[in-house]
Amino acid sequence: MPKPDDILDALRAGGVLTPGEDPDCTPLTGGVSSDIWRIDLASGPVCVKRALAKLKVADDWHAPVSRNAFEVAWMQTVRAIAPSAVPDVIFHDPETGLFAMTYIEPETAPVWKTLLRDGVAEPENAAAVGDILGRIHTATSTDPDIPARFDNDEIFHAIRLEPYLLATAERCPDVADRLRELADITASNKVALVHGDVSPKNILIGPDGPVFLDAECAWFGDPAFDLAFCLNHLLLKCLWAPSARPGFKACFEALTASYEAATTDIADRAIPKRTAHLLAGLFLARVDGKSPAEYITADADKEHVRTVAREFLTNPADHPIDICHGWHAHLNKNQ
Ligand SMILES: Nc1ncnc2c1ncn2[C@@H]1O[C@H](COP(=O)(O)OP(=O)(O)O)[C@@H](O)[C@H]1O
Ligand SMILES: [Mg+2]
Repeated sequence: MPKPDDILDALRAGGVLTPGEDPDCTPLTGGVSSDIWRIDLASGPVCVKRALAKLKVADDWHAPVSRNAFEVAWMQTVRAIAPSAVPDVIFHDPETGLFAMTYIEPETAPVWKTLLRDGVAEPENAAAVGDILGRIHTATSTDPDIPARFDNDEIFHAIRLEPYLLATAERCPDVADRLRELADITASNKVALVHGDVSPKNILIGPDGPVFLDAECAWFGDPAFDLAFCLNHLLLKCLWAPSARPGFKACFEALTASYEAATTDIADRAIPKRTAHLLAGLFLARVDGKSPAEYITADADKEHVRTVAREFLTNPADHPIDICHGWHAHLNKNQ
């Protein structure tokens, strides 16, 4: 495997690598939007992430590499709110769109998605995720630096609202108006710092609790997006590891409850309601949008999602728990 010379040059220029140092480099898999390497410096391993201009997904999907600076800024902001919930950023080179952070050992910090796939659905993990997310949203909702630092409407539109909600609207004319309305509502709520990709594949479950990665979509906007995006996975996982359905339901409930407990001080009291509205759209998007869940392949499973998503798009629920219960009731009746 050839070494990533341009990354090593950037690290050398930044003084992270000493001039004569020739470290071992190991590519890490699992990402879709970046080259990610473990680089073994004399001082220990670091993880280097470099944003790609074109994402590695089936549909054509481009995003500017400057999004990487928002990821670094998100990690630095969260470090001050929940220090154990993010890697430490060691070096950032905006010119080449790369940064280095602490390397987190996968042996002691597995990817949450892998645990869920294996049916390990622990409500404590979900509760910890909801608590951290709620604390980030609460703290950043009153931080005067956040709006200008994360003025990222364009990227958020390009890599979140368009591929999920608007692309789904194109493909599902019967609910297109509602999906476009959800995109507009989300874009117009300027409340707190949003991570933008709170998916189990971007969360490691470490010894000190969850560690959030991959904040490329960080945006000052609607926190309901993060909560809905994450809860969506706990609905979808029911089709991947059916035997763990009761666990996924308990995780959904635990995450929602801990998020609400951590956001009692946020002025915006309509986050759960907007989350429920958005969740219906994002649920459909994972079957009919530009980034479908790779593990939902059976037509019958896709139809289950379409049915329940449409039900809640046309008759919106006021709380995400209602969608969770509606989904589980549907599965219990139809499978
Ligand atoms: N700091 C880190 N320490 C160890 N592994 C990491 C670290 N950052 C990322 N990874 C690994 O790389 C994978 C992809 O990282 P991520 O930031 O999600 O990239 P992408 O934007 O391409 O999805 C993660 O799932 C994880 O396995
Ligand atoms: Mg990722």
